[in-house]
Amino acid sequence: MMNSMRFKPETLRKFTVEILDKAGYRGEEAKIFADSLIMANESGVDSHGITRLRTYAERIRHGVVDIHAEPEIVNDADTFIMVDSRNGMGVATCRWTIDRCIERAKKHGSCFAAVRNGNHFGTGAFHTMYGAEQGMLTIAMSNSSACVAPTGGRTAILGTNPMSIAIPSEKYGAMILDMATCTVAQGKVILANKEGNKIPFGWAIDEKGNPTDDPAAALKGAMLPFGGPKGYGISLIIEILCSALTGAYMSPDTKSFWRDFENPQGLGFFMGVLDISKILPLDEFKKRTDEILDRIKNSPKAEGVSEIFIPGEIEQRNRKLANESGIELGSNVYSELVALANEYGVSADILKPM
Ligand SMILES: NC(=O)c1ccc[n+]([C@@H]2O[C@H](COP(=O)([O-])OP(=O)(O)OC[C@H]3O[C@@H](n4cnc5c(N)ncnc54)[C@H](O)[C@@H]3O)[C@@H](O)[C@H]2O)c1
Repeated sequence: MMNSMRFKPETLRKFTVEILDKAGYRGEEAKIFADSLIMANESGVDSHGITRLRTYAERIRHGVVDIHAEPEIVNDADTFIMVDSRNGMGVATCRWTIDRCIERAKKHGSCFAAVRNGNHFGTGAFHTMYGAEQGMLTIAMSNSSACVAPTGGRTAILGTNPMSIAIPSEKYGAMILDMATCTVAQGKVILANKEGNKIPFGWAIDEKGNPTDDPAAALKGAMLPFGGPKGYGISLIIEILCSALTGAYMSPDTKSFWRDFENPQGLGFFMGVLDISKILPLDEFKKRTDEILDRIKNSPKAEGVSEIFIPGEIEQRNRKLANESGIELGSNVYSELVALANEYGVSADILKPM
């Protein structure tokens, strides 16, 4: 078999919708969820794409996520809402919450939301881009299973706690920062361990809290926050906004997306939008943002560098490429999808390469 194949994004979306349908998840919400998954692949964020479909489908099939749950506003302060996801799908809860925030921001200028009883929300950019497309500066954060040590610590007590902020611009679509708050995903350490490679110092620590380049020792220890105590501080702020404010579990108490098929994850999110047009005309703001981004893009490059990117630009370019020449999947991922199709009674013929 070839090492990789290319698929039209539409093919993978259709396949995802079929699998979800067999798992019992249907309608508009399931389509939005499929969009979120395939957008990750289109963006080049494969770790959060179709490779997770099996786990999501299994979670739905086991009923550990409630696909029928309607989120509920449990505390309403007009420009701030507390939302109980009631163990619904993370992506659906976030879409519902951002829609409510936008509605209110159009009236009051801004609205923020704290969400509890949530499940994995996928990539932050899926949620913030949606708000930015409607002229809103949008933020989304989540806590997650603990695998990161605080600066000076030696145990995994913080999640990878992702944060995304999208800011509307004309020329660049939107500037979208979307990042985990650890140096790199733990998956990279797992992979290095499998392949017998060393990891760079600075990614992780061993059980005693010492820097290590041995992935096996790193897996017994913890990942490190990005940027030393600065990343640790940001991760901690996300932790507090997502758990203390919402009443969700703190990261070490949340339940594993990958391994726990009995207990709800109990995650917290913090989200919000700012309606720029309430402060200055949106076009004016976009023009000013473009000027800043242009200056950055056109500033002198370091030796050996061919282009300076703005946050989100690489992913945006990947999406354009994916729509022109397809999404590349490795043969392992393809085989997993064929096996999934067989298990769920979906015709693997849908998965026709380009
Ligand atoms: N739901 C969860 O629990 C969870 C947890 C962790 C991460 N995530 C998601 O995983 C995804 C990947 O996170 P990550 O931290 O590995 O992302 P990353 O390190 O690939 O990118 C982080 C940010 O840096 C920007 N960037 C990268 N290279 C750049 C360059 N050369 N110039 C300018 N900007 C550049 C990217 O556009 C992005 O905004 C994100 O979508 C995140 O939301 C989700």
